[in-house]
Amino acid sequence: MLNKKLRLGVLASGGGTNLQAIIDTCRQGVINAEIGLVLSNKSDAGALERGRKAGLPTLCLDHRQYTDREGFDRAAVAALRDAGVQLVALAGFMRILTPVFLNAFPQRILNIHPALLPAFPGVHAQRQAFQYGVKLAGCTVHFVDNGVDTGPIVIQAAVPVLDDDTEETLAARILAQEHRIYPRAIQLFAEGRLHIEGRKVRIVPPLSPREQALLNPPPASEDAV
Ligand code: GRF
Repeated sequence: MLNKKLRLGVLASGGGTNLQAIIDTCRQGVINAEIGLVLSNKSDAGALERGRKAGLPTLCLDHRQYTDREGFDRAAVAALRDAGVQLVALAGFMRILTPVFLNAFPQRILNIHPALLPAFPGVHAQRQAFQYGVKLAGCTVHFVDNGVDTGPIVIQAAVPVLDDDTEETLAARILAQEHRIYPRAIQLFAEGRLHIEGRKVRIVPPLSPREQALLNPPPASEDAV
């Protein structure tokens, strides 16, 4: 069927602003997808509340109830399959997935990471970038493989780091871009336009080429002083 919606499972452990961006863009028809399940490992996750408010099926699987990671993953996979999920979107999901999960959804798991990978993988990516002193920070949507934040990259967005930034203002600037690129990546997947070739994700047909560079600080001609 031509216009069939892609069925998503969104996994989140935190506040769920990326989930919200996905909910909103599904609703607005910006992405041709629907959320079949919002799953969390934390009963107090804001993401679950957002899912409930949107009238979506939600499920909490408390990881402490499982003796090992594989047991948790088996339960998560079963729930996602029951919900008819075709693409899994990790949105601030603070659990490492085992092969039990990865093999159940091969090349069908996306993650959003708040750094320009491969720089600053792992936790507190915004803090890592801020403390390192980079001039450009950003975020990445990538397919999930068996490493930590190592899978093939789908989209990245860069933002400047400003002299008067704090870790918090930088994180907020990055987060605003996360909310743009995650729905975009999901829509490209829904359209069947993401072709994984080794480490690279080719977008078919390609997006229009843009060759300009992003400079921070900007060139002297753009400087107000
Ligand atoms: C985001 O910064 C995301 O990149 C990271 O976890 C955070 C989740 O934020 N993986 P939210 O719960 O979507 O607001």
